[in-house]
Amino acid sequence: MAQMYDIFCTILLLQLFSWCIDGEDTIPKIRGVRFLLTVNDTWADPPGCIKTVATNMLTPKVKSPHIAVGSCDNGPLTYTVLSPGLNYNKYTVRLTFYSSVIEDASPPTCDLSWNGTYLIPKKYGANVDLLPSCFTMDSREGYHMTSYWFHILEWEFHDENVPDMY
Ligand SMILES: *[C@@H]1O[C@H](CO)[C@@H](O)[C@H](O)[C@H]1NC(C)=O
Ligand SMILES: *[C@@H]1O[C@H](CO)[C@@H](O)[C@H](O)[C@H]1NC(C)=O
Repeated sequence: MAQMYDIFCTILLLQLFSWCIDGEDTIPKIRGVRFLLTVNDTWADPPGCIKTVATNMLTPKVKSPHIAVGSCDNGPLTYTVLSPGLNYNKYTVRLTFYSSVIEDASPPTCDLSWNGTYLIPKKYGANVDLLPSCFTMDSREGYHMTSYWFHILEWEFHDENVPDMY
C-alpha cells in the first residue's frame, strides 16, 4: 500500500512539474491581427499615389476580402504566424498582399516580427514608429517599383488562461 502511494505521489509530482515547465514555455497563440497597409505607387507623379488604410481583424491562413488602399492598389491579404518567430522574436507574421498593381511578378511579401507587445520609444522626445512593421518593394513588369509598408495595429491572442489542446 505504501508503495502504491509512493508511485502515486511520484506521478503527481511529475505531472505538476511538467505543467510548470509548459506554463513557462507556452506562447499564447495569435487569433487575429489588424494591419495598417501603406502603398506608394512610385510610377505615379510625385508624391506618388500614397495611402494608408487599416484592415479589419484578419484570421491567420484565411484569404481576406479585398482591401482597397485608396485608388493606389487593392486586393486580398493573407498571413501565417510563426511562433517562436525569427531573430529571437516571439512571433513572425509572414504576409502576402495580392496586389492588383503587380502583374507578371510574385505578389509583395514580407516577414514582420514582434514580441506580442507594443514597442516603446528608445529615445527621449523622438518621433518614432511604435508599431512593429516590415517594408518591401515590388515591381510591375519589372520596372515600375511600388512600395509597401505593413504595420501591426492590433492583435488578439487565444485565451491565455486555457491551454490550447492543438
Ligand atoms: C512615393 O513615391 C514618389 C514617387 O512617385 C516619391 O517621390 C516619394 O518620395 C515616395 N514617398 C515615400 C514616403 O516613399
Ligand atoms: C523581441 O525580443 C528579442 C529578445 O529580447 C529582441 O532581440 C527583439 O529585438 C525583440 N523584438 C522587437 C520587435 O522589439
